[in-house]
Amino acid sequence: MVKQIIKVVLVLTLSTILGTGMVVFSYQWTLPRIIANERMTLLSSLNVIIDKEHYDNDLTNDVRHFVDSDLLGTTEPVMVYRARKNGQPVAAVFNSVAPDGYNGNIYLLIGIYLDGRVAGVRVTAHQETPALGDKIEAKRSPWILGFAGHSLTDPLETGWKVKKDGGIFDQFTGATITPRSVVKAVRNNLVFFQQHRQQIFETPAQ
Ligand SMILES: Cc1cc2nc3c(=O)[nH]c(=O)nc-3n(C[C@H](O)[C@H](O)[C@H](O)COP(=O)(O)O)c2cc1C
Repeated sequence: MVKQIIKVVLVLTLSTILGTGMVVFSYQWTLPRIIANERMTLLSSLNVIIDKEHYDNDLTNDVRHFVDSDLLGTTEPVMVYRARKNGQPVAAVFNSVAPDGYNGNIYLLIGIYLDGRVAGVRVTAHQETPALGDKIEAKRSPWILGFAGHSLTDPLETGWKVKKDGGIFDQFTGATITPRSVVKAVRNNLVFFQQHRQQIFETPAQ
């Protein structure tokens, strides 16, 4: 009887050790692949904004964090990816937030060239209403592409609004709140960029 109990305990202990070992091993084995895949996904999102011909540094690792809840839309640190060519700054991509969407935060990638022009904007996550606010997604409408090339002087401040508010950017039929929020966020990021351009590129990666 005692022998049998010892045998069962031994079998259970061994299978627990073996099971845990297999989990740890497969985690260790797959972790680098997961990290590499995540990096590739991030890089392809960034390359949609800044053409890979335009920079030659390791964009995903040349990162700084900035906190400015007024201009960057969140009290959390915002990641800023710096693009450089031959060591010279080319553009920065902000992983920013439009905090006043219809259903809360709209997460954005906002690329800005060194001269202050918008390189491109894409929505990475949101909870806006399907068929209304979700037209901010590039796959649903070309609206988000309309920021490229604009800057703080083109248009001037009064133009950085949706048309309903007197600006140059379209709203959507029956949905003004979402595009209004994104337009405001893009302009705020341009203001932040203008105020911190030197700091953004000169400080070492974090
Ligand atoms: C169920 C429901 C969902 C809505 N979703 C959105 C949305 O995602 N984005 C948006 O801008 N407006 C949405 N609206 C419309 C807004 O309430 C608002 O009427 C519209 O944005 C126009 O805003 P304005 O009065 O500032 O022009 C939704 C309305 C309803 C009833």
